[in-house]
Amino acid sequence: MSSRRDFMGMALGGFTALGGIAALYAMKRSWDPLPSVAAAGFTTVDLSVAKENVLNVQKWRGKPIFILKKTSDMQADDRDVVVGRARYHVSIGLCTHLGCIPAYLPAEKLFRCACHGGEFDTSGRETFGPPPSPLVIPPFKIDGNKIVLGEEGPEYLKMKEAGLTA
Ligand code: FES
Repeated sequence: MSSRRDFMGMALGGFTALGGIAALYAMKRSWDPLPSVAAAGFTTVDLSVAKENVLNVQKWRGKPIFILKKTSDMQADDRDVVVGRARYHVSIGLCTHLGCIPAYLPAEKLFRCACHGGEFDTSGRETFGPPPSPLVIPPFKIDGNKIVLGEEGPEYLKMKEAGLTA
């Protein structure tokens, strides 16, 4: 009799443990992002609230993305993202020398990398120090007043074909 009770106890314990694992698995599934969201990897940013000469840093696929609304006195560039009458600089915020994150200096209107002193202008073009190339422009699509990072819209494809994105 006692061995039967032992067996029942073990069986019940086993069920309880399995139930616990199933509950934990269900909880983990509910914390994870939906597969479609994770796979899509898009970030949408509303540009209608952007202020001139104020750097907006977003995150896209684990990388910092710089969005800078240009002032009218900043040099216009083929790398500018034009939305309505406004021009924006949009780039992956990683220095093209060794990958540090440059800082934006609004008074000087330039990006400076603290690692080795590299500088970029407000079009993301390298102007001083060791960076060998401009800041990289991420895939983007303009959707009204919004920019969708991660999607290759016609404006991005045009830049890409002209060799301006890297
Ligand atoms: S990593 Fe930016 S200048 Fe070297």
